Amino acid sequence: MKLLVTGGAGFIGSAVVRRALRAGHEVVNLDALTYAANPANVAEVADLPGYAFVRADLRDRAALDAALAAHRPDAIMHLAAESHVDRSIDGPADFIATNITGTFNLLEAARAWWEAQGRPDGFRLHHVSTDEVFGHLGPDDPRFTEAMPYAPRSPYSASKAAADHLVRAWHETYGLPVVLSNCSNNYGPFHFPEKLIPVIILAALHGQPIPIYGRGQNVRDWLFVEDHAEALLLVLQRGRTGRSYNIGGEAEAANIDIARRICALMDELHPSGAPHDRLITFVPDRPGHDLRYAIDPSRMRDELGWRPSVTLDQGLRRTVTWYLEHRDWWQPLLSRPGVGQRLGVAG
Ligand SMILES: NC(=O)c1ccc[n+]([C@@H]2O[C@H](COP(=O)([O-])OP(=O)(O)OC[C@H]3O[C@@H](n4cnc5c(N)ncnc54)[C@H](O)[C@@H]3O)[C@@H](O)[C@H]2O)c1
Repeated sequence: MKLLVTGGAGFIGSAVVRRALRAGHEVVNLDALTYAANPANVAEVADLPGYAFVRADLRDRAALDAALAAHRPDAIMHLAAESHVDRSIDGPADFIATNITGTFNLLEAARAWWEAQGRPDGFRLHHVSTDEVFGHLGPDDPRFTEAMPYAPRSPYSASKAAADHLVRAWHETYGLPVVLSNCSNNYGPFHFPEKLIPVIILAALHGQPIPIYGRGQNVRDWLFVEDHAEALLLVLQRGRTGRSYNIGGEAEAANIDIARRICALMDELHPSGAPHDRLITFVPDRPGHDLRYAIDPSRMRDELGWRPSVTLDQGLRRTVTWYLEHRDWWQPLLSRPGVGQRLGVAG
């Protein structure tokens, strides 16, 4: 299969690019290379003959048309997005432009391409979304299923919800063969150092305060990024057209619990600063901070036979070890705009 991946220089997209190439697929990585991108994420596969890179912006429809005409993909996996909730609070316009208008442009470009080819049966557009479109849960609420109504609460999740609606509408109205997935919080190697888990690891490593929003009671359902990449390729190839799939790690944990587990790993793997949990510092909460996300992944398991391969403890150990061994990867990113600063406090 020749797969065009949007956002393949980002965190999850790069895991898909690496995995798809190793599985023998050809990959066209289309990315605008925003602050969140890093070509180093795909360096280990960039020399493979099946790999091509296109620098293009989803906001530029003509560039999307040109990429499709030049590379003629069999399928598109759409991951490119503005993805950081705190940045969406400070500057929502980029989220509307990329996540909504950009997805609209991609749908229109894909539809034109697919129709010009005579509507090939095998063509497919897989839209990658988030569980945040469902809003948030109370401590005892049942987990998100695919039937859950949408109730986004941040500019980020609202923009992703809007994109999901567009994708479904393009399927219903124009027959475009789409499939969707909504995933819980990912973590693992190559995670940009503004997101919670790398922030905790790097603060602990540097002996700096580990910032935890509110009292750290917000619960996330963590999924190791390599497991997500595997699930995405499965949904793309075997998911039912027009259907959506919730992908989750069945690993709920409160943020304070994540911080403590990482500190314990740091005590073991980097003992010089131990005990690292003395660095945990509560800071003012994010406005509208969703309390709990939890995914019911039954459809993934029952229809596609997928389940996560690593536990949260195994995944955290691999992640902490990776950051300790890859200073050359994360060090240059610390000087990118906004990294290391408190964002998203405007209430
Ligand atoms: N990270 C998570 O925990 C998580 C969970 C569920 C779903 N998702 C979704 O998965 C996708 C990937 O997330 P991620 O964490 O890898 O994001 P990321 O921020 O690490 O990467 C996003 C990539 O998209 C590119 N991009 C941004 N705007 C673009 C534009 N206008 N045109 C072209 N490229 C552009 C960036 O350059 C970057 O390489 C997103 O759609 C996100 O909503 C993420």
